[in-house]
Amino acid sequence: MKSIITVSELHKTYDMDDDVRVVALDNVSLEIEEGALVTTMGPSGSGKSTLMHIVGGLDRPTSGSVQVGKYNVTSLDEQQMAVYRRQTIGFIFQSFNLIQSMTALENVALPLRLSGIPRSERLEYAYELLTKVGLQDRVYHKPTQLSGGQQQRIAIARALANDPPVILADEPTGNLDTASGENVMEMLRELNENGRTIMVVTHDPRMTKYASRVIKMLDGHLL
Ligand SMILES: Nc1ncnc2c1ncn2[C@@H]1O[C@H](COP(=O)(O)OP(=O)(O)OP(=O)(O)O)[C@@H](O)[C@H]1O
Ligand SMILES: [Mg+2]
Repeated sequence: MKSIITVSELHKTYDMDDDVRVVALDNVSLEIEEGALVTTMGPSGSGKSTLMHIVGGLDRPTSGSVQVGKYNVTSLDEQQMAVYRRQTIGFIFQSFNLIQSMTALENVALPLRLSGIPRSERLEYAYELLTKVGLQDRVYHKPTQLSGGQQQRIAIARALANDPPVILADEPTGNLDTASGENVMEMLRELNENGRTIMVVTHDPRMTKYASRVIKMLDGHLL
């Protein structure tokens, strides 16, 4: 199998006031095969989110490189980075990160707008995606009018809008009750079965049991 993600010698340090330096990533190298489902575990502060953000082009390393598919992510400028994120990555966050003033339908359609899809087409496709995650009867609800599990399903539909080959999920079930969490994990598993490469930060053993690989982090490095 060929690698879709190659992380080479990543370092990320934060220089704080009064000469304090925080090492968030310390020489992390990693290869992830196309179609893998990788779970990342490790204590709070071990660098899990930092790694995901750099792989997803939301943050830049202090040194080292990341290659994802055809993109040499760490060498892209801001504009190229936005294109990379839009075409390649679907993000799912612990706190959903939906736009509160928009309906479920508008939230899911937003990435399609950024891709230049005409309005009627993108609303139609957003409806289709919401149907897939079982929310066809909530399309005009705003996030505050929905449960946590429903909000996370909207976030998943949004992550799928541009049909990205890679999905990065950072504790996607962290704010959910057991049943909703189960539902979200089941969706991730299905997306993986349909060929998407998935990296998910989670401590949940129900997710790690589906994993093709479990990565453990401690103090900014891989164990
Ligand atoms: N913007 C920042 N400025 C300074 N230090 C930061 C910043 N972001 C992260 N850090 C530090 O980098 C380290 C790694 O943070 P990170 O968020 O990657 O941890 P994590 O493994 O995701 O933890 P958690 O399980 O709590 O989400 C932590 O020590 C954190 O304090
Ligand atoms: Mg984190």
